[in-house]
Amino acid sequence: MITDLIDLGPVPDAWKRRHLLGLEDLSAEELTLILDKATIFRKAIDEGHRKIPLLTGKTCVNLFFENSTRTRTSFSLAARRLGADTVDFSAGTSSLSKGETVIDTAKNIEAMGVDLVVVRHRTPGTPHLLSQNLDCSVVNAGDGPHEHPTQGLLDILTIRQRLGRVAGLTVAMVGDIAHSRTARSNIWGLKKLGAHVIVCGPSTLVSPRWQELGVEFSYSLDAILPRVDVLNLLRIQFERQFTRPFPSVREYATLYAMDRQRLAKTKDDILILAPGPINRGVEVTPDVADGAHSAILEQVTNGVAVRMAVLWLLAGRP
Ligand code: NCD
Repeated sequence: MITDLIDLGPVPDAWKRRHLLGLEDLSAEELTLILDKATIFRKAIDEGHRKIPLLTGKTCVNLFFENSTRTRTSFSLAARRLGADTVDFSAGTSSLSKGETVIDTAKNIEAMGVDLVVVRHRTPGTPHLLSQNLDCSVVNAGDGPHEHPTQGLLDILTIRQRLGRVAGLTVAMVGDIAHSRTARSNIWGLKKLGAHVIVCGPSTLVSPRWQELGVEFSYSLDAILPRVDVLNLLRIQFERQFTRPFPSVREYATLYAMDRQRLAKTKDDILILAPGPINRGVEVTPDVADGAHSAILEQVTNGVAVRMAVLWLLAGRP
């Protein structure tokens, strides 16, 4: 049995959830459970197991109303590696353009016999709305600037693997905090697991009000560099902005791009993360993005393991 081989056991009784909508409402125990199971899946992937048929006979639909490279591919691969059938839905070619609502579209897809819906939508709360209207499990793959729970989980898994712990670390989220669902999911997850979080960026993209979430804020990357353990470099999300948040991309890069000079001011074992897609030369220079401190591609590999863990926990009971 492959399950014996990878030491997974059945879905634990302690796991009670049917949906994964965000990290805000997960407990430290639930977060740790997902990370522990993802670690087992990661090990299985590393050992070359391409098929771990724990979701055979289940059907998983990717309902993406926004563009995606990594997240959609990662969810598809995770479902297929677990033996589930997957279907990709693209908003551009759907009946949405004929006036159908998101709920009607989702209900029609569910009526075809679906166990899991993975949804990405520009409107915050869309996955929550679907979870109230569908019988199947719903996973949030990004709802506007609100949350992107599996991205938060894969970032935290990468930190735990590389640095051996999460509690007690100082993690800085840098850049477009205002529009980042990755920032929000990381904040909830990291804080619950005992890390100290700093949000850092220009005053148009981060404000002192973020302290209300229990995080520190800073406008100066250079000021915080010496005391951070992890830097998570966010993309400037121009597609979500209605006005220009700074005079020029060049000025932003001068103040916030992680480059070799800034790297020299950090701790020796600094960990550099980025959710991707990265804009080389804007939030990070190519030498740092591809350098020894960067775990950017490692994050992508962990993404598949995290999504396998989440899909299995949500749909893996007989
Ligand atoms: C992020 C997203 O779409 O929220 N990317 C991702 O899922 N890998 C961040 C981004 O687009 O910058």
